[in-house]
Amino acid sequence: MQKRVLSGLLSAFLVAGSAQAADDLMAVAQDFFKPIPAKPPALEGNPASAAKIELGKMLYFDTRLSESHNISCNSCHVVGMGGVDLQETSLGQSWQTGARNSPTVFNAVFNLAQFWDGRAADLEEQAGGPLVNPVEMATTEGHVVEQLDGIPGYHEAFRAAFPDDTDPIRIENVQKAIAVFEATLITPNAPFDQYLNGDETALNAQQKAGLQAFMDNGCVACHSGINLGGEQFQPFGVVENPGEDLLPPGDKGRFDVSQLPEDEFVFKVPGLRNIALTPPYFHTGKVWDLKQAVRVMGTAQLGIDLSEDDVENITAFLHSLTGDQPRIVYPVLPPSTAETPRPNP
Ligand code: HEC
Ligand code: HEC
Repeated sequence: MQKRVLSGLLSAFLVAGSAQAADDLMAVAQDFFKPIPAKPPALEGNPASAAKIELGKMLYFDTRLSESHNISCNSCHVVGMGGVDLQETSLGQSWQTGARNSPTVFNAVFNLAQFWDGRAADLEEQAGGPLVNPVEMATTEGHVVEQLDGIPGYHEAFRAAFPDDTDPIRIENVQKAIAVFEATLITPNAPFDQYLNGDETALNAQQKAGLQAFMDNGCVACHSGINLGGEQFQPFGVVENPGEDLLPPGDKGRFDVSQLPEDEFVFKVPGLRNIALTPPYFHTGKVWDLKQAVRVMGTAQLGIDLSEDDVENITAFLHSLTGDQPRIVYPVLPPSTAETPRPNP
């Protein structure tokens, strides 16, 4: 595994090096990275419609999907806060905390898989997880259906979203609707997108120096593509173990999914879009300062003690990844009735 990673890094160095000779930063950047598209991507087997997106939005905000009726997707992925909760690890059912930091839902549609260990293939599969996770929303699939069925306003909303379905209030459709809504949570038009689209003035001199350093030092070997990440699984601590605080021995990452020895302490490379908005960092959420996260990456992943100039410049570049945040109109949710199942706090 180490060998494969390192040879990948090496080829990235070489590409970055030869490009430097060509002295065309923008052209090299355009090879490694892609702008966020203006429109949400289509999901395979789950076509979007206005009614389905609206239903997905209602479900995303509806706390009645949780056992306690206190927690919604938005509790841990707040759409007004970069799609995260700004906590080390999230608070769920009965004040329990999970083991990992809540990643952003923004631009998650572009990731090769979902969760830090990639255990869900896509957004649709992912949306089933938190509902039944005992430290998150702590309910059961059966109860989600019973709950929604007990709220009359949802009958019409599900019929409109799934017009060909004779029995639309089903857990599969809950997941499909949430997924099409989440696919709309993209953040185009960051200064870096404007730059990739040809606007030389969109990045300032320090951000350009940071982009150069990001490529020259080899960050780009793992953080590339639309999300500057989200496309590979890699060990945390390729060169140097970042220590028990950041990489506790109890969480072996992708190993728990695959049981393959080479997957020990392997995690999905997180995307870096809007990274300035989403502290704390890493799957443990132990690092609050983006500059410190950059330093850790230098030593742990690359075996480099980055110079303070590089750290400052790379961090300035990372700030250019903040795009237009989604403007979400808070949905009016259908009322409960006397027959609607009650919360179980
Ligand atoms: C109690 C907090 C909490 C709630 C509620 C919650 N999540 Fe999460 N979410 C997390 C955490 C923590 C992770 C990372 C878990 C892991 O990787 O093992 C996560 C991961 C995700 C991811 C993966 C993103 C990526 O890049 O890998 C998506 C998408 C997501 N949640 C969407 C949702 C949706 C949709 C809901 C509502 C149905 C929801 N979450 C409810 C905390 C929460
Ligand atoms: C070998 C692959 C690899 C290289 C090279 C690499 N990273 Fe990472 N990066 C990762 C992985 C994997 C994680 C997730 C670590 C964890 O928390 O488990 C990560 C996490 C991060 C985070 C925190 C993201 C978050 O949402 O918490 C930042 C910021 C980051 N990297 C920036 C950089 C920078 C800057 C460089 C170059 C100095 C770099 N990375 C080099 C793989 C890599």
